[in-house]
Amino acid sequence: MLKRSDAWSRILSGRPTDKHFVEAEAFACANIALIKYWGKRDQELNLPKTSSLSISLNTLGTRTRLKKSFDRDSIYLNGKALSEADGFVQRLCRFLDLFRSRGEYFEIHTQNTIPTAAGLASSASGFAALIKALNRFYGWKLNTKEMSILARMGSGSACRSIEPGFVLWHAGDRSDGMDSYAERLDTTWPELRIGIVLLSTEKKSISSRRAMQRTVDTSILYRAWPQKVDQDLLQIKKALLQKNFSLLGKTAESNALSMHATGLAAWPPLCYWQPSTLQTIHQIWSLRQQGFELFFTMDAGANVKLLFKARDKKDIETHFPNMQTVDPFA
Ligand code: PMV
Repeated sequence: MLKRSDAWSRILSGRPTDKHFVEAEAFACANIALIKYWGKRDQELNLPKTSSLSISLNTLGTRTRLKKSFDRDSIYLNGKALSEADGFVQRLCRFLDLFRSRGEYFEIHTQNTIPTAAGLASSASGFAALIKALNRFYGWKLNTKEMSILARMGSGSACRSIEPGFVLWHAGDRSDGMDSYAERLDTTWPELRIGIVLLSTEKKSISSRRAMQRTVDTSILYRAWPQKVDQDLLQIKKALLQKNFSLLGKTAESNALSMHATGLAAWPPLCYWQPSTLQTIHQIWSLRQQGFELFFTMDAGANVKLLFKARDKKDIETHFPNMQTVDPFA
């Protein structure tokens, strides 16, 4: 089997790593999976068991600025210096080690416009913004597929944050991961709105990395997951083609609930939901019974993301006064 460094060097061979710009900055949008990535076939390369499909959140995401530093890495998150012992800092430094030469250090300023580590995909936009900034800093001139492969190494879902709009992450089957990348789908849906219902900004109790591994290892329901994803991908592609909103919403909601169900059947059991999460789910179901075309999806956290159409925005906002509405195609 190829080692991590082989895959890297294939993309970066012939690209400059010794020459660089003084400073570089880049933005990457956060993304919400409509068909989830849940379970890895390779832990080190972040290779998924199945493909997944997401929608990028336009201006919500991460802006990262980096410059050379002399004797150590220093990392600032939303203006605050982070300690070297911080788990996020260590993860970031390990990721940087894959690209830089020995004795090379960075000062990195990361600004999130989306709550960090509350199941709102800040690590995805974080690693995607970092790869885009490194690409500029070193002048690599990578294309979006190559950046997607490299971002994937920081966090799996980061490979879907390189591009805007609807994005499909091909699981791939090669052991070196060179065919596991995300690409933008050639379709838009200007009427689609995403509502972020922030119920908790607390750091999640268990990382998605550990949670998905425990699910793969111990949940009998996980056996059905690849089949569920296959079916849902077909349905959602059909929904995108036909602009069938209720098919899109139904498929995304069912996929998210199935993902959480696999976690409940793991041992020790996994449940990211808070009482307010369940209350929100019931509120959505009740509004749907009243005739609203309203659906939801959820990731590894307590927060809920609503899916609805632009024309229902005012009504939905009255029911969820603290919701932040995103127009992915504005
Ligand atoms: O990329 P990670 O390791 O943060 O995993 C993300 C997993 C989910 O958010 C739960 C699903 C997804 O596809 O984004």
